[in-house]
Amino acid sequence: MIFDTHAHYNDESFENDREEIFARLSQAGIGRVVNIASDLASIDECLDLAHRYPFMYCALGIHPSDSAPLSEEILEGIRKKLADPRVVAVGEIGLDYYWDTPDREIQRHWFAAQLDMAREASMPVVIHSREAAQETMQFMKEHHAEENGGVVHCYSYSLELAREFVKMGFYIGIGGVVTFKNSKKLKEVAAGIPIEHIVLETDCPYLAPVPFRGKRNSSLYLPYVAEAIAGLKGMETEEVIEITEKNAERLYRL
Ligand code: NI
Repeated sequence: MIFDTHAHYNDESFENDREEIFARLSQAGIGRVVNIASDLASIDECLDLAHRYPFMYCALGIHPSDSAPLSEEILEGIRKKLADPRVVAVGEIGLDYYWDTPDREIQRHWFAAQLDMAREASMPVVIHSREAAQETMQFMKEHHAEENGGVVHCYSYSLELAREFVKMGFYIGIGGVVTFKNSKKLKEVAAGIPIEHIVLETDCPYLAPVPFRGKRNSSLYLPYVAEAIAGLKGMETEEVIEITEKNAERLYRL
């Protein structure tokens, strides 16, 4: 079944029909979902969802754009929660120089601290990186992220760099963007890296695939992403679903 490796069902846009969507998942071929924390408030929301639904796990960490209020004490609190059996990764963490706030020094500080936290806990990381390709790679190498592994989510860089992440043992997260007409670079990445290193993700409520582009996204639309990747690789959609599910199990050690 389809494994959604990156969702944000704690988002308020799901407030009125979260249960309805969840009830339809298994019939739509969606087996498991990892819900990913982003800001401070989302940490306990993600834990709560992962405890309530057997198909759901979570990743805990602070997104670079939300890293301004972080402190050592807060990070210590997150560190303790990593021991919860429903927590499968640290994330999403990284660098975002597209929105470019807070100051890069703050983003760098908490990215490094959370990379170290994940490595000490022997947990994979969920990396968010925008317009910060070389620096993200440099931080990951300096902090030996290859030892605990993880996924570069919503991958937006070149095929060449994707190959370097793959060489480090990382997975490449691909979602709705691969169905967009103008996503030439991501299509090249999907075609060019081994299927054994690709995982499916929604990043919902964001980035719905064609034909729902611009609408609220959910795991129910992932078959369109699997189909697009299958087309690019000359594979059957079912084969893509099966292999990426196994990849996600390895990624999150399930
Ligand atoms: Ni996300």
